[in-house]
Amino acid sequence: MPAKAQEKQKLIDKEGKRIDGRNPDELRPIKIEVGVLSNADGSAYIEQGKCKILAGVYGPRETHPKHLALPDRALLQCRYHMAPFSVEERKSPAPSRREIELSKVIREALEPAVFLEYYPRTSIDLFIEVLQADGGTRGAAITMASLALADAGIPMKDLVVACAAGKVEGKLVLDLSDAEDKLGEADLPVAYMPTIDAVTLLQMDGNLTLEEFEQTVNMALNGCKQIYKIQKEALKAKYVALKEVAEE
Ligand code: CDP
Repeated sequence: MPAKAQEKQKLIDKEGKRIDGRNPDELRPIKIEVGVLSNADGSAYIEQGKCKILAGVYGPRETHPKHLALPDRALLQCRYHMAPFSVEERKSPAPSRREIELSKVIREALEPAVFLEYYPRTSIDLFIEVLQADGGTRGAAITMASLALADAGIPMKDLVVACAAGKVEGKLVLDLSDAEDKLGEADLPVAYMPTIDAVTLLQMDGNLTLEEFEQTVNMALNGCKQIYKIQKEALKAKYVALKEVAEE
């Protein structure tokens, strides 16, 4: 959409509804599938609104390059990559600064959940491919990647679930879409381990008052708790499907 047309676009209508018809505290529709790649040790796929993201986990396996191996724990390596066709304007397939940063923040959000000390000198390799992006890809990627790790049988303290909240035209909103992220006043992604009640990622882009900040963090955590239920169902669904195949 041309920048001028976007500037005029109203993001919240008179009834308080957002451009995609959602209420301020409503998540986008979420669909998650676990175990979608047979060549990977673990995998998952998520659709969150228009975002479509896939992940494959390989390992624990021999570390490449070898000198990166850690004597006391596994090395978690993460690559977040956006397909050239994932956004409206063609994205170069080469890793951008943003993708290098997101690979790091996603790894750091997942690391506290994984018992890395069980697999010294090995590497756990996580590849995240964004097939279609529409805002909030880091959150959706974290939610889905923690399921791919669990699917690989890697012991974890909890699943990590992530979601953003922010401010758009003066209103606090949950799970921002791309237009809300770009044209809104603030975006605050949070990653969280619900059982342990621990936050593993907290970032903020834009401006909020202290009171708004607290409300936005709580809104994002509430979103995480809702997504956590969908996450657990997706993991269970894989084993129900396997049981049904075994019984046939
Ligand atoms: O995706 P997330 O919100 O975690 O990260 P961001 O850097 O805040 O990017 C917000 C959105 O901008 C992405 O989800 C994409 O929809 C969009 N984007 C884009 O259109 N072109 C790019 N080269 C990178 C991002």
